[in-house]
Amino acid sequence: MAKNKSVFICQECGYEAMGWLGKCPACNRWNTFVEEIMVQGSGKDRAETLVKPVKINEITTQDEERYTTGIREMDRVLGGGIVKGSLVLIGGDPGIGKSTLLLQICNMLRTESPILYISGEESARQIKMRADRLAVENPKLMLASVTSFNTVQKLVEEVRPAILIIDSIQTIYNEDLSSAPGSVSQVRDVTAGLMRIAKAGATSVLIVGHVTKEGAIAGPKVLEHMVDTVLYFEGDRHLSYRILRAVKNRFGSTNEIGIFEMRDMGLVEVGNPSEVMLSGRPQGVPGSVVVASMEGTRPMLIEVQALVCPTSFGMPRRLATGVDYNRVTMLMAILEKRIGMQLYNQDAYVNVIGGIKIDEPACDLGLIGAIASSFKNVPIDPGTVLIGETGLTGEIRAVSHIDKRITEAARIGFKRCLVPSGNIRAVEQMKGLGGIDIKAVGNLEEAFEVLF
Ligand code: TYD
Ligand code: MG
Repeated sequence: MAKNKSVFICQECGYEAMGWLGKCPACNRWNTFVEEIMVQGSGKDRAETLVKPVKINEITTQDEERYTTGIREMDRVLGGGIVKGSLVLIGGDPGIGKSTLLLQICNMLRTESPILYISGEESARQIKMRADRLAVENPKLMLASVTSFNTVQKLVEEVRPAILIIDSIQTIYNEDLSSAPGSVSQVRDVTAGLMRIAKAGATSVLIVGHVTKEGAIAGPKVLEHMVDTVLYFEGDRHLSYRILRAVKNRFGSTNEIGIFEMRDMGLVEVGNPSEVMLSGRPQGVPGSVVVASMEGTRPMLIEVQALVCPTSFGMPRRLATGVDYNRVTMLMAILEKRIGMQLYNQDAYVNVIGGIKIDEPACDLGLIGAIASSFKNVPIDPGTVLIGETGLTGEIRAVSHIDKRITEAARIGFKRCLVPSGNIRAVEQMKGLGGIDIKAVGNLEEAFEVLF
């Protein structure tokens, strides 16, 4: 008889150890190890089929078939809809709106075969009540409240759905494994089973995965490599805006984002994110600037705020939300050295408004502008957008997609753009566009002359 072995698995990243560890050596999280029993010998009986390699030019391809979800923001993030036979993971904090989004997608999907929505969290009645509120009435939609994976397999064989939705992966379990539902072994095993379903019957499978802070149940990280597409649904639960972000996509680009607003009637797409991001912006206040960031192929105007004030302790405090902390400290060092601003005894807080994360160097000039404006206590003209990457010598470096950024600024009604002088050739043709004044700057001194 096969001997069962117990291993300790990090519920966050899937790292395996022979004994319990307080801190995971792979992902550095604390208290994430849980004992799981491995049944040995289970994989050995599977017969290996003989596979021969094929010459690449002998393989015929055709464009992948897609189901459009009817929600434009979602389609864009997916790269044009749900690919037939693909496995999509939608991760996010509990309560962020994953179930709501999936139910709304079901309404618009046009498929020949049924859509099977399996929930391990809510009863069919509860889902129906929510569906009524969201006005979801697709006759192809079938609901089942199931937690056993064997039952899921039976239902799939019976219904033969075009699209299978599993809400959530942490509640579905395989009885043959002794570990608890939601543990790494269960989550991996069930996902592998779903992958077989997807590849065998050309069923597209959408999996919901809760992200956990405590590590009591396995996070979606452990199955990111198994699926075709990974989307994260982010945002502050207390604010109404939600961002859908592709982290991995075998059928499209990964830097697209979709923006939604949570209303009482469910999620509504936000077609004009710049306007939303800039709503409620204070006018003529020190420390507030607007940057133009590219989110995928789409330019987006975002407000950045900074607060700089004298520190009351020996060590100044620095805090960055929505932007890389190290980038902020580097930009502050550039300000000290190149402009001579005394920031070493100042606390600095930098915040990107709207729960957005910016990771583009093209936002450097904006961050510097916000910090300097707060330090000097001088507001920057609210009709100005700052674009440019800052180098360590204080030079402003050229950025990509300058035309898209300026066009977006003009569309929203901004009067002036600061752009790197390295982009001047591309900018020349845009002069006079929407009455926007374009100022090219080569280094920080030049930029400050224009701004302050
Ligand atoms: P839900 O989709 O259940 O989250 P998840 O599946 O990610 O755990 O969303 C739950 C939250 O969304 C809930 O706190 C209430 C809110 N909500 C609305 O504001 N409006 C709505 O129409 C719906 C259905 C939910
Ligand atoms: Mg849910």
